Amino acid sequence: MKDKDPFLMLIPTLILLFLNINLSYGSRTRDRMYQDITGTGCFRRMNGTHQFGCSSDRRGSTGVVYFIENPSDITNLIKEGTASSYIPILSLEKLTKETVNLLRGSNKISGLVVYKLNETEITEYSHEDTCPNRNFALEGTCDTDWNSPGTNLLNYDFEYPLFLLTNNTELEEVRTCFNTFNNVSLNRHYELSLCSLELNFFMYAVIDTPTCLRRSAPRFNFNTHRVCDPIGSVNIWSSLFPIGNSTINFGNTTHTVNVRSDMKQIVLASRLDATSLFFGKVPGAVNPVTNAVTLLYTSYLLKQMLPQYKDYDKNVLFIFFTGESYDYSGSQRFLYDMEEKQFPMVSDLNPNETALNIFPSNISLFIELNQLGLSESLNTFMQEENTELRNFLTLLKKYAKDININEYNGHIPPASFQTFLKIILIWLEL
Ligand SMILES: *[C@@H]1O[C@H](CO)[C@@H](O)[C@H](O)[C@H]1NC(C)=O
Ligand SMILES: *[C@@H]1O[C@H](CO)[C@@H](O)[C@H](O)[C@H]1NC(C)=O
Ligand SMILES: *[C@@H]1O[C@H](CO)[C@@H](O)[C@H](O)[C@H]1NC(C)=O
Ligand SMILES: *[C@@H]1O[C@H](CO)[C@@H](O)[C@H](O)[C@H]1NC(C)=O
Ligand SMILES: *[C@@H]1O[C@H](CO)[C@@H](O)[C@H](O)[C@H]1NC(C)=O
Ligand SMILES: *[C@@H]1O[C@H](CO)[C@@H](O)[C@H](O)[C@H]1NC(C)=O
Ligand SMILES: *[C@@H]1O[C@H](CO)[C@@H](O)[C@H](O)[C@H]1NC(C)=O
Ligand SMILES: *[C@@H]1O[C@H](CO)[C@@H](O)[C@H](O)[C@H]1NC(C)=O
Repeated sequence: MKDKDPFLMLIPTLILLFLNINLSYGSRTRDRMYQDITGTGCFRRMNGTHQFGCSSDRRGSTGVVYFIENPSDITNLIKEGTASSYIPILSLEKLTKETVNLLRGSNKISGLVVYKLNETEITEYSHEDTCPNRNFALEGTCDTDWNSPGTNLLNYDFEYPLFLLTNNTELEEVRTCFNTFNNVSLNRHYELSLCSLELNFFMYAVIDTPTCLRRSAPRFNFNTHRVCDPIGSVNIWSSLFPIGNSTINFGNTTHTVNVRSDMKQIVLASRLDATSLFFGKVPGAVNPVTNAVTLLYTSYLLKQMLPQYKDYDKNVLFIFFTGESYDYSGSQRFLYDMEEKQFPMVSDLNPNETALNIFPSNISLFIELNQLGLSESLNTFMQEENTELRNFLTLLKKYAKDININEYNGHIPPASFQTFLKIILIWLEL
């Protein structure tokens, strides 16, 4: 078998080459010259028309280690470096759009390594856009920079592999290697044996989603590995009361539920995903985690307060959307299913349950939880003044006396709700 298992190909490896030495030294000295170090790589993604992220060469990308302390080092390196290719190393917070643009188009750069030492505290840093999911935002909502530190490097097409190093010991080894062999005048680099890095994180995926899926299709691909996989997961939902007419057992009694024909839905939603430039390193996951805890606890409390179905005219739908980091794909799919009369699906219901389809117009109130983790006060956003929302806010303020609630009306931040709001605004125009 010539081709490796696709999963093996996905494991990023970073190798420190002690010397850029003549190949005739042979393999016996390999172990003395090479050292594996652990890092996490930037990976490639695509949408319908573009590719983003990074890939190494098929056999790995090699370059001379060069530590960057300030931006002028980059300009000097590109202008005066005499080795054939370099891999600059810089601290994570220096990885900005400006830095990346300095490196763009330079054929001397074969990779890039950033590091974050565990003791460095970065207070503000983000690879997302200043307005995440800009292309799928409701008109006008991106007039505000919701994520002001955003560099938007997540949506950048790197020409080289990019790795993140977080192990202090290993970084020190790279630094020592650099100081021993490479920390000399750039114009002497061509004649010296230098300390290099090899970055291995090759991505088969290229160009855009249609191209990539076509190449993954069995009739074009006789190999066992796939070129790319769709990004995807599942949305998760549940309801406070049964969605349809049913008989359910509560303890030892059978209870008959007859859902009113004018039943309205209150949606309590949250996203379940976060993303990152680096494979598996997702500090933004603190957001879905805190949202999920709040949403689950709310459903638990509601079930305790309202243990049985009575003649209510409102039900509560608890929804976790997955895939929201990528163009709101989870909520878009959910909305699509609703409009296609596919929600709820018969397979989602109990055998005894008969339910009507639920449409976006059956939602009377949509509450989305987001970014609950790090704030001391609660910020509420509503797109437009509305009686039901006003009542809800009044009650929220009444019962949450010891929480400081700030109200921002007129425009909403990036949220799954934008997916639903867009369709509602289309109806209003019709
Ligand atoms: C893909 O992303 C790029 C850059 O954000 C954008 O210009 C383009 O419109 C997107 N394509 C699709 C099909 O959404
Ligand atoms: C950083 O890592 C070292 C070694 O693993 C550890 O001793 C130290 O406490 C860590 N520092 C912080 C701020 O986490
Ligand atoms: C850092 O790297 C060293 C050397 O490879 C290794 O022994 C150590 O366990 C690593 N530390 C962590 C926290 O992974
Ligand atoms: C390279 O050497 C200079 C002076 O000789 C020193 O100031 C600098 O810190 C060294 N670079 C690194 C990355 O240690
Ligand atoms: C369906 O209804 C029957 C009685 O009509 C009951 O015995 C059974 O437990 C119900 N099934 C579920 C899943 O609630
Ligand atoms: C149903 O269970 C309750 C306690 O859980 C008990 O008091 C009651 O007698 C039971 N009813 C029947 C019909 O078994
Ligand atoms: C839900 O919305 C659909 C389409 O607007 C409407 O026909 C239906 O009567 C509504 N159902 C309820 C329970 O209000
Ligand atoms: C549920 O029961 C009510 C009252 O019996 C009835 O009007 C309604 O049509 C039923 N709905 C479904 C989906 O069967």
